[in-house]
Amino acid sequence: MAGSNEALPRLCFLGLLLCLCYSSAAAASTPDLLYLNLLWPGGYCQSVNLGENCCIPTTGEPAADFLVQSLETYDSTSGNPITNCNSDCRFLINPLAELIEDLFAYWPSLSCPSNNGMEQWKHVWCTYGNCTSLSEVVYFNRTLLLREQANILATLKSCGIVPHASITYSLKEIAEALATTLGSSSFSVECERRYTVWPLLYQDYLTRIRICVSSDATTFVSCPTYLTTNCGNTVKFAPILYPSSRGRQGDATTNPVRLPSAMMDVFL
Ligand SMILES: *[C@@H]1O[C@H](CO)[C@@H](O)[C@H](O)[C@H]1NC(C)=O
Ligand SMILES: *[C@@H]1O[C@H](CO)[C@@H](O)[C@H](O)[C@H]1NC(C)=O
Repeated sequence: MAGSNEALPRLCFLGLLLCLCYSSAAAASTPDLLYLNLLWPGGYCQSVNLGENCCIPTTGEPAADFLVQSLETYDSTSGNPITNCNSDCRFLINPLAELIEDLFAYWPSLSCPSNNGMEQWKHVWCTYGNCTSLSEVVYFNRTLLLREQANILATLKSCGIVPHASITYSLKEIAEALATTLGSSSFSVECERRYTVWPLLYQDYLTRIRICVSSDATTFVSCPTYLTTNCGNTVKFAPILYPSSRGRQGDATTNPVRLPSAMMDVFL
């Protein structure tokens, strides 16, 4: 691609940035790239101190699927995250009322003690969401839609890659499967290494897929620099097994806890 072709849009973009930034000296740049982080609870709960720090949310057992962790804001040129753009940031639960069931199912917090996820949503909104040009409801809605669109579990399954306690898969076959829906340069696969005999024997557990997304949170895009993976050649795609002695597994699926409607008005 010729440099001259790119010069004009870049100049316009710079001009736009200058306009957007006039009111806020602190905002050195606006995010032009987002990272969607999707957790695989099977690997995540295996790896976080062997499940010691993984709890079933008070709102019930999440969907048995890849779960949203965050949608992060980045400056693609510097490669740095852009965070905490407004010190007065407030998170309101009211605007998310229509999304609440999906948030419970697909964007829970698995941290302990068991919780309803709201501290995590507040944290993600004020750290990243408030740096986008999206309203709160649009930010959360589009993130949930992106998770659905990425369709990771079904895509892997269609390529014969299913969670299994003992079978391992090659990183290459996982990446090739995901490339069919995401594009080959738009994601990275992340693992957590667990040692059985340090440093000789270990297993890499698939824990997270990280996907590059357009700044309006609507489409998957190629990542500006090739994302590296920390997985070895052989990856375990572990079944989801929440620690049974913790959390609220007993009543989780049959009796999920709903937010009292009065709570919907509380600023968190
Ligand atoms: C960021 O937070 C501030 C303070 O709550 C708010 O005025 C502003 O509209 C928020 N930005 C976005 C994009 O929602
Ligand atoms: C979320 O986005 C979808 C697709 O644009 C739209 O149909 C739906 O009404 C939105 N939901 C909310 C709560 O904004």
